Amino acid sequence: AATLGASAEAKGRYFGAAIAASKLGDSTYTRILKSEFTSVTAENEMKWDATEPSRGVFNYTGGDRILAQAQANGQKVRGHALAWHSQMPGWAQSLSGSTLRSAMLNHVTQVATHYKGKIHSWDVVNEAFADDGRGSRRDSSLQRTGNDWIEAAFRSARAADPAAKLCYNDYNTDGVNAKSTAVYNMVRDFKARGVPIDCVGFQSHLTNSAPGDYQANLQRFADLGVDVQITELDISGSGQAAAYAAVTKACLAVARCTGITVWGIRDSDSWRTGTNPLLFDAGGNKKAAYTSVLNALNAG
Ligand code: G3I
Repeated sequence: AATLGASAEAKGRYFGAAIAASKLGDSTYTRILKSEFTSVTAENEMKWDATEPSRGVFNYTGGDRILAQAQANGQKVRGHALAWHSQMPGWAQSLSGSTLRSAMLNHVTQVATHYKGKIHSWDVVNEAFADDGRGSRRDSSLQRTGNDWIEAAFRSARAADPAAKLCYNDYNTDGVNAKSTAVYNMVRDFKARGVPIDCVGFQSHLTNSAPGDYQANLQRFADLGVDVQITELDISGSGQAAAYAAVTKACLAVARCTGITVWGIRDSDSWRTGTNPLLFDAGGNKKAAYTSVLNALNAG
């Protein structure tokens, strides 16, 4: 097929992009968004600071704009992110212990209820593991409410929106390493104890290349009985086009890899300023990396 979305669809996958509500008036942006992608993620608009700026006061303006645009375009929506130590609103940053725990669970319940039935997959918990090479949990105010905060968040999300796939999402978990193995052990434990988890997101903010064991890592998670998704793909540096092809092929080779999301549309939309890690240049032109992904999706 001729577009990323249609080519992925032919392989039973979605191909998505993170988008910003503030850019929906940009005609180049919306043209590419509408023609190339079958799923969208709100880059910031569904996060805790955006959706609950004051305790118990919810604001869905940006998220609802993204949802409405996606529905008008026939695109699915990935939800990002219900519980995350970063981008917590100021009022929540000042809480701790059981007060923070109940505020977090209420947030999960309220946001998942607002979007009930509209989200194909939710990042229920984002980035809860450390980069210490030992697979520790990240120290955060959420973690200090008790090691079971992650499963509590998943249970609240399931109760609020039983149809959404519930994902754990993280970065630097793209290959087999101490951090990804710690996530793997958590998912295995959750599956054994019936904690509701359906999918694991691999952000895949990469430089130069994908880890050599990228596909094997996806596969070991899939073998636990969860779907896997590439959730925030961007690749800077040399070998960009080849690395994009490798990631795409790895997803297609893993039956339970259900989709790929790139973290922005044009290089100028990327959070990785100055590194040009995306598939379209600042003018909206297709890059070599685009062609590489498209060819990988259409191979075989
Ligand atoms: O909304 C304010 C705006 O009012 C203000 O004028 C402007 C001035 O700087 O800041 C705006 O907020 C910024 C927001 O993006 C929206 O543009 C924040 O400062 C900025 O920190 C925020 O960055 C986002 C970042 O998450 C925050 O942690 C990036 O756009 C977003 O791409 C990035 O995404 C994360 C994923 O959620 C999780 N995984 C890693 C990934 C990259 O960091």
